[in-house]
Amino acid sequence: MKILFIGGTGTISAACTQLALARGFELTLLNRGRQPAWPGARQITADIANPAATAAALGSEHWDVVVDYIAFTPADVEQRINLFRGRTAQFIFISSASAYQKPPAHFPITESTPLVNPFWDYSRNKIACEERLLRALQEENFPVTIIRPSWTYDERRITVPVNSKKSFTVVDRLRRGQSVIVPGDGNSLWTMTHNTDFAKGLVGLLGHQGAIGHAFHITSDEVLTWNQIYESVAVAAGAPKPRLVHIASDFITACLPEFAGGLHGDKAHTAVFDNSKIKRFVPDFVATTRFRDGIARSVKWFETDPSRQEIDAEANASWDRLIAEYERGLEKALQEFGR
Ligand SMILES: NC(=O)c1ccc[n+]([C@@H]2O[C@H](COP(=O)([O-])OP(=O)(O)OC[C@H]3O[C@@H](n4cnc5c(N)ncnc54)[C@H](OP(=O)(O)O)[C@@H]3O)[C@@H](O)[C@H]2O)c1
Repeated sequence: MKILFIGGTGTISAACTQLALARGFELTLLNRGRQPAWPGARQITADIANPAATAAALGSEHWDVVVDYIAFTPADVEQRINLFRGRTAQFIFISSASAYQKPPAHFPITESTPLVNPFWDYSRNKIACEERLLRALQEENFPVTIIRPSWTYDERRITVPVNSKKSFTVVDRLRRGQSVIVPGDGNSLWTMTHNTDFAKGLVGLLGHQGAIGHAFHITSDEVLTWNQIYESVAVAAGAPKPRLVHIASDFITACLPEFAGGLHGDKAHTAVFDNSKIKRFVPDFVATTRFRDGIARSVKWFETDPSRQEIDAEANASWDRLIAEYERGLEKALQEFGR
């Protein structure tokens, strides 16, 4: 099969590239070429945000499958519909599980859970993308399959909900025995998926004509609390027992509004998924990476090159400030209550 990935070298897509090549697919990657070219894949270097340059780079080729990892808005998918109309037998759109109803009214989350997220524009845009693509399916038989990943990580990211883009920052804090912020009581449930596990589901759907018109999430079946997740990161980092400061998401986002979408629209809610649909369509799909093992590999990746261990001093200062204010408030409350 002749496959095109738009992306192919990112957090989710790199593992799919690796597995698709291992399974012998003829794979082309379209991206801006900021990562080294992938051995075994054909490279098309283009910025998808430039429609004319992208159309010229793609020429009039036809594809068995196009997987688009980087469409975020209805305008993006409109461009893709125009670009691939009549030129692909399957178009896979990477949406997001954050599109599922928040707060969730029913567990576990299935693909029929309503798509309603009043808290995060990122998710509302993904919902609008899905709606536009399903309309294209109805009106012109555009062969869409929708994938909704939940938080999916690779070795280049330390995944805890209050962290910086320079994600080694939290490892450094844990190692220095500094407090780290955990949203809520840290007891809500979360599902963290390794990109190599996600890839098994995604690659299993490539060219699956029964999957046209269907949506799938692809996640691990390992369910952990945020406290367990922070503890696993601390163990992977060889840090002492972590000092977890539990702060309500409302309090965190009132002080640090940059976390509002990601917490209220996603990580402040329990996320437990029923993966039976992907297992029905891809019978050999099984997620095998436990978080404690995957995150240990991530810490190792950072350790093999000190230039990867960037620390976000500004984020550190604002977390210190938030923790200090929260603890001051608690002390004052204790005095007030005579405790
Ligand atoms: N990771 C998660 O936890 C998660 C969860 C839910 C949903 N998702 C969804 O999964 C998708 C992939 O996310 P990700 O984190 O794997 O992506 P990512 O790491 O940001 O990777 C993006 C890929 O696209 C390429 N790219 C970026 N901008 C481009 C442009 N303007 N033109 C051409 N190529 C471009 C990058 O290569 P170059 O930089 O070389 O161009 C890279 O190959 C997104 O749609 C996201 O919403 C992710």
